[in-house]
Amino acid sequence: MAERRTAIVGIGAYLPPKVLTNFDLEKMVDTSDEWIRTRTGIRERRIAPEGIYTSTMSVEASRQALQMAGLRPEQIDLIVCCTVTPDYPFPATAALIQKDLGAWNAFGFDVQAACAGFLYGLTMADQFIRTGSARYVLIVGVEMLSRVTDWQDRSTCVLFGDAAGAAVVTAAEGRGLLSSRLYLDGSLWDLIYLPAGGTRLPASEKTVQERLHFLRMRGNEVFRVAVRYMGRAVREVLEDVGLTADQVDWLVPHQANHRITQALIDYLGLSAEKVYANIEYTGNTSAASIPVALVEMLEKDLLRPGQVIGLTALGAGIAYGAALLRW
Ligand code: UT7
Repeated sequence: MAERRTAIVGIGAYLPPKVLTNFDLEKMVDTSDEWIRTRTGIRERRIAPEGIYTSTMSVEASRQALQMAGLRPEQIDLIVCCTVTPDYPFPATAALIQKDLGAWNAFGFDVQAACAGFLYGLTMADQFIRTGSARYVLIVGVEMLSRVTDWQDRSTCVLFGDAAGAAVVTAAEGRGLLSSRLYLDGSLWDLIYLPAGGTRLPASEKTVQERLHFLRMRGNEVFRVAVRYMGRAVREVLEDVGLTADQVDWLVPHQANHRITQALIDYLGLSAEKVYANIEYTGNTSAASIPVALVEMLEKDLLRPGQVIGLTALGAGIAYGAALLRW
């Protein structure tokens, strides 16, 4: 009998309808379509309008994932919501997702691993499934960074987009998670962070005036560690299962910057056709980027049973990792 592994049996995505193009951004800050495209690969991103929240995007994506899995919300045992942009500092956005879905038999929590969120969520779901404490886990990778972006800061506001991706996982035979590795380098915690609103700098008039409720990123320094850390993590999961890079059918990296992806391709010696990219139209959607990419690949009929798919991501923390799946 083939070994049972944690496999994706349903997946869904939600992108808000409003498109913000590089030309729109030219009117907001001192930037250009040319700079953004050549430095990042992004042409446009989606921005959630008033009235749409992290939980609302999550529920849309989750309904699709449940439908594909052929499950009712009450059959979900655990909801893992991966986000750094929750509806509220507490309770967990997982609670709001549970309520709106009607997933009354699930327990749940949020995972804060920024752009590596989906990888963290998938790996945590795997632990609950392996121990038998959950049969069906709903993992949501969701981010609404537009609400914590400083729209006067050209070095960050051109990068991010809003989106949600959701996956239902359960134990399956002959497919699923082959290996995953998670890492955290807290020595680099301040490369990407949101200064105010926590216990160090509670909200005050001063924090608002000083624009400290918006994310800050030293992008250039993140760039330098991103390729090395993600590249190493991918090599490790390949070694775990005795595969070489050329045996991977698809690599789906977190979509942060097309130059990072290109450097990763070179580092791993992969052929560019095997690396999925959609940053052009989504921007960096943090924890949502991998599940959104997988949904697109499924819609384009790029995913076939038996294929080996590598995932890798890196973000604030610095939290990062890689995983290998047999589809
Ligand atoms: O997903 C979470 C993890 N995050 C990432 O992986 C992001 C990683 N970093 C990056 O993707 C890149 O570092 C950025 C796209 C953020 C920036 O690209 P860069 O090539 O590292 O540019 P830089 O920060 O070194 O800035 C180069 C120049 C600077 O001007 P000077 O000092 O050389 O005169 C910036 O002021 O580009 C300037 N600049 C801009 N110019 C036009 C920065 N942002 C902009 C902009 N438009 N939007």
